[in-house]
Amino acid sequence: MEIRKKLSRSLLIVFITHVIVLSGFAQNMAERYEEKIDNTIQSMTLKEKAGQMTQITLDVILKKDGDSLIEPHQIDEEKLRKAVVDYGVGSILNCGGHAYPREKWLKIVSTIQNMAIKETRLNIPVIYGIDAIHGMNYTTGATLFPQQLGQAATWDPKLVKQAASITAYETRASSIHWNFSPVLGLGRTPLWPRFWETFGEDVHLANVLGEAMVKGYEGESISGKEKVASCMKHYAGYSMPLSGKDRTPAWLPERMFREYFLPPFQKAANAGSLTAMINSAEINGIPAHTSEFLLTDILRNEMNFKGFVVSDWEDVKYLHDRHKVAATHKEAVKMAIDAGLDMSMVPNDFSFSKYLIELVKEGKIREERLDKSVRRILRVKYALGLFDTPVTYPEDYPKFGSEEFRKASQKTAEESITLLKNKHDVLPLPENANVLITGPAANSMVPLNGGWTYTWQGLETDKYATDKKTILESLRNKLGKEHVTYAKGATFDSVLSLEEVKKKASMADYVVLCLGETAYTEKPGDINDLALSQAQTDLAKTAGQSGKPVILVLTEGRPRLIREIEELTDAVLMAYLPGNEGGPAIANIITGKVNPSGELPFTYPRYSNDLITYDHKHTERIDATNGENAYNPQYPFGYGLSYTSFEYSDLKINKDAFKEKDEIKLSVKVKNTGKREGKETVQLYISDHYASVTPSVKRLRAFEKIALKPKEEKTVTFTLKPSDMAFVGRNNKWITEEGMFTAKIGGLEKEFEITK
Ligand code: BGC
Repeated sequence: MEIRKKLSRSLLIVFITHVIVLSGFAQNMAERYEEKIDNTIQSMTLKEKAGQMTQITLDVILKKDGDSLIEPHQIDEEKLRKAVVDYGVGSILNCGGHAYPREKWLKIVSTIQNMAIKETRLNIPVIYGIDAIHGMNYTTGATLFPQQLGQAATWDPKLVKQAASITAYETRASSIHWNFSPVLGLGRTPLWPRFWETFGEDVHLANVLGEAMVKGYEGESISGKEKVASCMKHYAGYSMPLSGKDRTPAWLPERMFREYFLPPFQKAANAGSLTAMINSAEINGIPAHTSEFLLTDILRNEMNFKGFVVSDWEDVKYLHDRHKVAATHKEAVKMAIDAGLDMSMVPNDFSFSKYLIELVKEGKIREERLDKSVRRILRVKYALGLFDTPVTYPEDYPKFGSEEFRKASQKTAEESITLLKNKHDVLPLPENANVLITGPAANSMVPLNGGWTYTWQGLETDKYATDKKTILESLRNKLGKEHVTYAKGATFDSVLSLEEVKKKASMADYVVLCLGETAYTEKPGDINDLALSQAQTDLAKTAGQSGKPVILVLTEGRPRLIREIEELTDAVLMAYLPGNEGGPAIANIITGKVNPSGELPFTYPRYSNDLITYDHKHTERIDATNGENAYNPQYPFGYGLSYTSFEYSDLKINKDAFKEKDEIKLSVKVKNTGKREGKETVQLYISDHYASVTPSVKRLRAFEKIALKPKEEKTVTFTLKPSDMAFVGRNNKWITEEGMFTAKIGGLEKEFEITK
């Protein structure tokens, strides 16, 4: 491969210097880096330091005609030189608006690294970042998994870790080494257009799955050529805007912030996540990018996070332009640096670097402050092995886009899809069923994948995923073409032809109704109402009026309300955004090849203004008649049916009372009482009877997904500590209080006490 050879030759001299320098150092890798980093920082100019802290987007170095990028995209050598040689930028991100083949990525990354290493004084490689949030979604031919919310519905950290590990492999196969994932904010406000990028509403589930994802990306040894640096984002509280609109204010009391929103970040930091991205929005009136409390006091001093912190897109500038806390862009830079920012995703110019240099020269920021950030950035570059392996090559990754990876994606989708209703066991469909499939999501890859798929908004997926199968195509593969007719009926927002649907439904045995949402993320995904569109509601009513059993399949990134149409359906399958293998996965479940085992990672609301999470307070249950029925979602958190049935029995606890150091062991028997093999997620909830801060009705404290053959019984054991029942007390500190608790598993309960 030509580029590779060219690069290898040009890098040879640099490598030799490194080998000689490194071989003299102590064996301990970390120490070896530290000494090297000290030397580098000592010899760096102020401009080089500010450069390392600057991140620009790829567009800045691509050839343009006016404001438009010239297709096919090509690096403009002069612009690149300005960026990496003149300004010494430490990082580049993104694609130029659409996905590339691996060879193109190789060319881009190797051209950048070649110049950064060959033409600069210090030969520091650039760190290249990308949003590979459900597989390497900016590389054509890569394996695309369910989005994070769907992954959460598997309740299986092994599958989440595997998906991350394959993503890391395929990202390195695309010559990129830094992934802006996982999202560790909790999805507790379903209107938010990035709800589907979360692991759902529960902190324990997000803790476990976030950690698994970081481990999948970074592996045991991050310097291995199959691993990427993860990025815990968006630190923190971003996912909870009061209005539900993206990048709008969150009002989070410190108690709640610490108990719900920080733990997934703490777990990811403990797991070694190398970088963090800052919340674009504000909490309690303070933009996160200016919060020393968040970026230094908590992240560094409490969480002991060792990696570097990058801003989100243009967010330092927005402190002036949008948040209005900085009177100038220069003041914005000072505010962010004072708070603890290490790298600014500027990303369209070099202004950050210019202002930073001025601020140091004016004595407003000390140069040692820059040293701290540069040290953190260089540590990550060393840890990733970028000095030795600045570029990785597609040919070294033979499993890219392989059948093995495709199967892993399909299995993840199959284990995520959640059966929410199955009246009279209408599903699975019999082998020779005649089906009408209808709806805007029936024959498109767009609603299966959502945003961040080949493009930012994910609206061009049908042009890219041409070899992938929609729900319609997959169902035809399973049932036979002659058994499946199709009438789109409506787009996501407007009716096409209900008459056609009526006619074709009258000739079918079943109607498979595919509704949901088109792709979106961030601001363009803001909505004013969780209700399903009128057009889709009308289509559902038409399907319902046919008198044929209706199987509703939902592909959506947030729970659009189905209250009005649920009664018309016989079965409901929540598919979330299942990715490129979503079609075959849904077809396998509809036809019974696969027994569904997904469970909701959030509460599916019934009404748009009744958004109560499962871990609500007791007062939230009180209804208008002073009864206790106010909590009345469409489907509860943790809910999901199977084609078999499970019976729980014999819940045991090792003692009645526990002291601080004691182990609490809870065991329960689970039996498959149906006729087919199935999987069940055993969920342990604990209720604190009385506490100094109002307790939730229950909290998820442990879970385990198990597989059971017909008639098979297994005992599941959970081991907890009293501190697992801790909460953030009145003084904003964690506390484990004495008192009575109830453990609840599968309808069984056991009381226990925590004592001094
Ligand atoms: C998003 C981030 C993303 C970044 C880089 C921002 O607009 O909020 O999640 O990582 O862009 O693409």
